[in-house]
Order: sequence, then structure tokens, then C-alpha cells
Amino acid sequence: MNFEHQPPNTDTHLISEADADRIATLEKSAFDWSIEQADIDALKEYIRSPNVITVIVKGVGEGIAGYVVGVPSLTEAELVEEDEAFKPSEHNLYIETINIAPEYQRQGLATKLLQLLITHAQDRGYQTISAHTPPELLNLYRPYLHSEPSRTIPNWYDSGEDHTYIEIDLDEDKPGHSSNS
Ligand SMILES: CC(C)(COP(=O)(O)OP(=O)(O)OC[C@H]1O[C@@H](n2cnc3c(N)ncnc32)[C@H](O)[C@@H]1OP(=O)(O)O)[C@@H](O)C(=O)NCCC(=O)NCCS
Repeated sequence: MNFEHQPPNTDTHLISEADADRIATLEKSAFDWSIEQADIDALKEYIRSPNVITVIVKGVGEGIAGYVVGVPSLTEAELVEEDEAFKPSEHNLYIETINIAPEYQRQGLATKLLQLLITHAQDRGYQTISAHTPPELLNLYRPYLHSEPSRTIPNWYDSGEDHTYIEIDLDEDKPGHSSNS
């Protein structure tokens, strides 16, 4: 066996406020944003909110390898300004962000986080999970989709990139469904 590359510790847990600073650092490196104290405070408020579901996957030691944040889509009503067909609903959880640190990518961690998000969303009675994703990342979501997504929004938030709308139906017995949580 080769131990040169330490495999990720795939412990996952719902986020706590103590994780906020490390998550902000990871977010900054992934998206090249500058993170202000106000952003960290906003993240902590997110974490305190009973309706937001954030799952993280731990890396080696104290590091965080990645996280996914699901928010009630009703709180994301401004998305209709970008995607006029978006329908916020109390039954829908919206993936606000999913991010895996570069050194842990392509090892199945985003898939693991998605599966956990699905389980937590089902436990809380959500019927669907939605997201806007760059088209090149659609394969990440394909195992959970019924049909090919049909809506792609050009120049998402003036980023120069298109984003495709996806929706996962939680009522169905999909691969992410888990009955042991
Ligand atoms: C997108 C991202 C979350 C994927 O995380 P990951 O842990 O590497 O994903 P997984 O290992 O679970 O990948 C599962 C499948 O998704 C697809 N996929 C994942 N990353 C991909 C990429 N960069 N390009 C194309 N397909 C990709 C592949 O089909 C992959 O299966 P394979 O490795 O057997 O080919 C990660 O690359 C990331 O954080 N990127 C930076 C932030 C970002 O773009 N977030 C998404 C938009 S908010």
C-alpha cells in the first residue's frame, strides 16, 4: 500500500460556529473572493439558523476538506432576477454553495456531501433540492436527476459563465436516499 498521499478523512458533520473561520478561508481560496469579518459574521448567522443545512467534510487533522450549504429557497427570492423561471418554495432547499478544497477534489467528497444533504433535507420534510451549476459540473448531479436539465441561464450574475438549473426530487427512491440516519 502507498501511504505517500494521505487519503481524506471523510468524517462529516453538521457545521458549528467554530468552523466558520476555516470555511471562510476555503471559500476565499476557491472563488477568489476577499472575505471580510462581516462575511464571517453572516456565515455564523447562517449556521445558527435552524433552517439552513450545512454539512462539512473534515480533511486531515483540523482542516476542512469541503462543505455544502443548503438554504430554504424562500430566502433566495432574489434569484428570480437572474432566472425568471425560478420558483421559491417552502418545500425546496437550494444549494447555495458546494466547495471542495483543490487537494481533495475528484475523490468523491462532493458526492458524499450531496448524499448527506439529501438525507438531512428529507429528514426535515423538503421535497426537492435545487441548484444553479456550471454546465460542465452537471455530472456531479446526474445520479440524482430524472431527466436532462432544460434551463441554462447565460452570463450568470455577470460572471461570463452560463449556469444550468437542476432539481432533485426527494420523494423518489434515488441513489442518495438513505434510511439509516
Ligand atoms: C465542483 C466540486 C464541488 C466537485 O467536488 P469533488 O469532490 O471533486 O466531486 P466528486 O469527486 O464527488 O465528483 C463526482 C463527479 O462529478 C463530476 N465532476 C466533479 N468535478 C468535476 C469537474 N471539475 N469537471 C467536470 N466534472 C466534474 C465527475 O463526473 C465526477 O465523477 P468522476 O470523478 O468519477 O469523473 C469541486 O470541484 C469544487 O469545489 N470546485 C470549486 C468550487 C465550485 O466550482 N463549486 C461548484 C459551483 S458553486
